[in-house]
Amino acid sequence: MAGIWTVIPAAGRGTRFGGDLPKQYLQVGGQTVLAHTLAALFAHEAVEGAIIVLSAEDADWPGWSDFEGKPLQTCVGGATRAESVLAGLRALPEQVRGDDFVLVHDAARPNLSRTDLAALLERGRADPVGAILAAPVRDTLKRAGDDGGIDGTESRERLWRAFTPQLFRRLQLSRALEHAAQAGIDVTDEAMAMERQGLRPLLIEGAESNFKITTPADLARFEFELQRRPAR
Ligand code: C5P
Repeated sequence: MAGIWTVIPAAGRGTRFGGDLPKQYLQVGGQTVLAHTLAALFAHEAVEGAIIVLSAEDADWPGWSDFEGKPLQTCVGGATRAESVLAGLRALPEQVRGDDFVLVHDAARPNLSRTDLAALLERGRADPVGAILAAPVRDTLKRAGDDGGIDGTESRERLWRAFTPQLFRRLQLSRALEHAAQAGIDVTDEAMAMERQGLRPLLIEGAESNFKITTPADLARFEFELQRRPAR
């Protein structure tokens, strides 16, 4: 089977985190968050290369052209995550055909496990549309009123939280993201763009430990997770 390319959106400004350094360049356990993310993806033999989508103002990109022996390319992203992913899909090497599956994975999600990535690739590639890693909602959901009081309780039945990686065919995903952009809808993940096309991606339950680094507390959590990892 042909190798899989990954689009890694890393063009966000990370305003929730504070500080000047984009969160993918923060150091944890002797390397950047981005290096951990790449190592997690490239640990699977089917992952062939990655395109990192950078902000035009990015002054911290280390200029790598490969990582652990697999090729890396870069391109410039857009104002939203969806625009950045679309830019990445357009910049993929020509060898990636329209009907080839590609992965999209947040730069700031470094704690992806081998088991989850393997499950996504195996079950997602067997699905006609593709798949995403996700986890069921376990907390009770409250809808807030303007005054901060609770207006009501929402059912959590059949609700899932969408993670990345997400796995779709290159051309179908590009078209879905283009259609959403034309309609002026800011899709917050790739699956949402596919759903708008009437397609039904598969949900694959993944570990809660595949969290996105958003706040300083998440960085401390990742540091803790790294220390718990068995030595390779
Ligand atoms: O901001 P958020 O945490 O949702 O971003 C998720 C991922 O999307 C991050 O890796 C971020 O760098 C990326 N992103 C992007 N282009 C944007 C906004 C976010 O590549 N305009």
